[in-house]
Order: sequence, then structure tokens, then C-alpha cells
Amino acid sequence: MNTGAAAVSLHGVTKRYGDRPILRGVTADLSAGEITALLGPSGSGKSTLLRIVAGLTDADAGQVTIGGTTVLDDGERTAEWPGAASRIGMVFQNYTLWPHLDVRANLTLAPRKRLGMPRDEASGLAETVLDQVGLRHHLLSSPSRLSGGERQRVAIARAIMMRPQLLLCDEITSALDRRAAGQLLDVLQGLQHDRRLTVALVTHDLDFVARAADQIILIDGGVAADSGPRDAMLSDSIALSRFIHAESCGPT
Ligand SMILES: Nc1ncnc2c1ncn2[C@@H]1O[C@H](COP(=O)(O)OP(=O)(O)OP(=O)(O)O)[C@@H](O)[C@H]1O
Ligand SMILES: [Mg+2]
Repeated sequence: MNTGAAAVSLHGVTKRYGDRPILRGVTADLSAGEITALLGPSGSGKSTLLRIVAGLTDADAGQVTIGGTTVLDDGERTAEWPGAASRIGMVFQNYTLWPHLDVRANLTLAPRKRLGMPRDEASGLAETVLDQVGLRHHLLSSPSRLSGGERQRVAIARAIMMRPQLLLCDEITSALDRRAAGQLLDVLQGLQHDRRLTVALVTHDLDFVARAADQIILIDGGVAADSGPRDAMLSDSIALSRFIHAESCGPT
């Protein structure tokens, strides 16, 4: 995989759980170095799609290409997948920090184990990245001492430690109040801009989308039903809000 921002291309990504089709062939492109919001009703398969791109869930069929490298082909991980996987970061709705490790250890564990980064280098990088998310003073804190917004900023910092080209964010603000969500968004945008990250953002928060997203993809009925630049897609925000707050009736 090349360095720098990576465009992501999804082609015919398909997933069933039992006999229920969840994704019926999602075909969509995420531009390199941009924030793309994935919007859709609850249950429409947004998290499933992110998890497939992150390698946490298997697909039944389809192709995923990241930065010109095909990492999933006909539903199978390719030989390039292991190399590509370490350049994908994911942040979830619920803080997934290890509670028994302090913030520094949370940040340095994966770079040390998975990238073989020496301890001193990993610690130095942890301080730099914590500075960027405004939490340098919490280097040695336990996650239990942090607020929800601070934990999410540490979760983003932990993903950034792996120097990702692609950051996948699943409902990262939904457990936060407006102020903490706004701070998190500022941090995400700053990092995305400085590092020219490609970001996929799943959210139900249209204010968040209006502030942060460059592109929008609508997931509905198991496919990417529509996509386009943010302003064009937000022009009928009332209809969009109804759409994303509707219950998914699933693929038809
Ligand atoms: N491991 C699983 N086993 C069986 N069904 C699953 C599994 N994971 C997800 N599903 C089902 O797949 C469908 C899509 O789930 P998914 O979590 O991807 O939706 P979503 O769009 O992220 O919804 P939300 O907006 O509520 O987070 C749902 O009906 C869900 O119940
Ligand atoms: Mg979800």
C-alpha cells in the first residue's frame, strides 16, 4: 500500500446473516484524504460494512480496494490484506480502551506488538499524539478517570498511533453530550487534515455531518442507494433526517 491518503473502493460487497441479506452488493467510493459520512436507518448494515472493511467481519462476496491495493476479492481476504490491515484504524461508539492499562500503555501496546516499535519511540509518539488530542496531561491516567469525551479522544489517539491511512469511525459521538461531541469532532478534523487521512464516519447526527463530512453515502435496502458531495446531499435535510431515523425495513 502506498503512503499518504488512500482512496477506498467497494464493489458488490455482500453479507447475509443466516438467510437474512444484510448487504446486497454495496458499491461505493470514498475519496482519498476526505471525510465520507455513511448514513442510513438503524439496522441498514452500516456497522457491518465498516467491520468488513476493517477485517472484523467476513463478507460473502465483493471487492474492497484500499489505496489501489485489493484487500478483499470475491469475499476472500487477499495476500495483501495483512500488510494493509495495520494501516486501518477503527474507533467505536463504546470506548474500547483496556481498563487495566494506563493511557500511555493503551496507546503504545499495538505499535510495539504489531509494528515492533521500540518502547522509547512508542512512548515519544504517544506523547505527541496525546498533545494533538489535547490530553497530554492524562498520559499516566487510568481510563476510569477520564470523561466519556476524553476516552473517545484517547481511542482516536490510539488508532492514530498505528499511522493509519484509513480511519473508520462508528457512532463515535453518540454517547457524548453536544460539547464533548463538538470537541471530538474538532480533534478528528484536525488530525484528518494534518495527516491527510481518509475517514469513513457512521453517524446519525446531521449537524456533525454538516460540519465535518465532504461526501455522503446513503445505505438503504442493502445497497449504497445514493451518494454525492455534502452540500448537495444535505439540500433536503428534513427528508434526510427522516430517512436516517426511520427503522430499516431491510433489503427488499
Ligand atoms: N453478528 C450478527 N449476527 C446476526 N445478525 C447480525 C449480526 N450483526 C449484525 N446483525 C444484523 O445485521 C443488521 C445490520 O446491523 P448493523 O449493526 O450493521 O446495522 P447499523 O446500520 O449499524 O444499525 P445502527 O444504526 O442501529 O447501528 C441488523 O439487523 C443486525 O441485527
Ligand atoms: Mg451501527
